Amino acid sequence: MITVTNLNKSFGDQHVLYDINCQFLPGQNNLIIGLSGSGKTVLLKCLIGLHKADSGQILYHDRDILSFTDKEMKMVRQEVGVLFQGSALFDSMPVFDNVAFPLRMFGGMTAMEIEQRVKFCLGRVGLDDAEKKFPSELSGGMQKRVAIARAISLKPKYLFCDEPNSGLDPRTSIRIDELIDDITREYGITTVVNTHDMNSVLGIGDSITFLYQGHVEWQGNKNDILQTQNQPLRDFLFASPTLRKLIETER
Ligand SMILES: Nc1ncnc2c1ncn2[C@@H]1O[C@H](COP(=O)(O)OP(=O)(O)OP(=O)(O)O)[C@@H](O)[C@H]1O
Ligand SMILES: [Mg+2]
Repeated sequence: MITVTNLNKSFGDQHVLYDINCQFLPGQNNLIIGLSGSGKTVLLKCLIGLHKADSGQILYHDRDILSFTDKEMKMVRQEVGVLFQGSALFDSMPVFDNVAFPLRMFGGMTAMEIEQRVKFCLGRVGLDDAEKKFPSELSGGMQKRVAIARAISLKPKYLFCDEPNSGLDPRTSIRIDELIDDITREYGITTVVNTHDMNSVLGIGDSITFLYQGHVEWQGNKNDILQTQNQPLRDFLFASPTLRKLIETER
């Protein structure tokens, strides 16, 4: 579980996150949604320690990472898998080496153990035959799956995904969501997903935090979100007239 309390983050005189309070639970898809520029990526980077928050608390279970030294943070990072906005694969390395990268960096594993783990992770995302390929030889959806395989290679307790569906067609997006959902439940991972994809919101949103202009504006889940009376959230959800019409017809 991750608990965020009164978190603030500015860049110079630009205040980006205001007094953020939220909780992310294990075995669940915890979604952070919001318009472009609302602060989702900055919040995610604060959660993994890539940005230092100005004030507040980020508890990984009972450990406050804001008070951690670099060495303590390195220990936490070994429990964390990240799927960055864009897949952020190393273009010069074949798929095998991309997935092996965190294992070689942190794992203390033999070459044989690394090979077994890489093969297992690639199998888990349905890419058994891709290990020798380079990222440029893969489709966008396959690249995301490699990035997921890399993110789970160290058996993380915490998984962070920034816009895992960006640039993918709706069907491939749903497959990626299902993969993240399966992995989250199978291993009881605390998963945090940034998205503005409505299919993801309604498909895998066990817990949803809506960020609006750097504030937590609404919290709930996929079952109650469409009934919300919160105006900024309604404007976000029903930005598409087609979706609005479909939902009104349903009622
Ligand atoms: N390193 C940085 N330095 C200064 N300002 C930043 C930095 N990173 C983000 N910002 C600002 O913080 C605000 C929130 O950006 P952020 O990337 O978190 O938005 P987002 O909700 O992830 O948007 P998107 O959906 O487009 O990815 C923006 O105004 C952005 O310009
Ligand atoms: Mg972003």
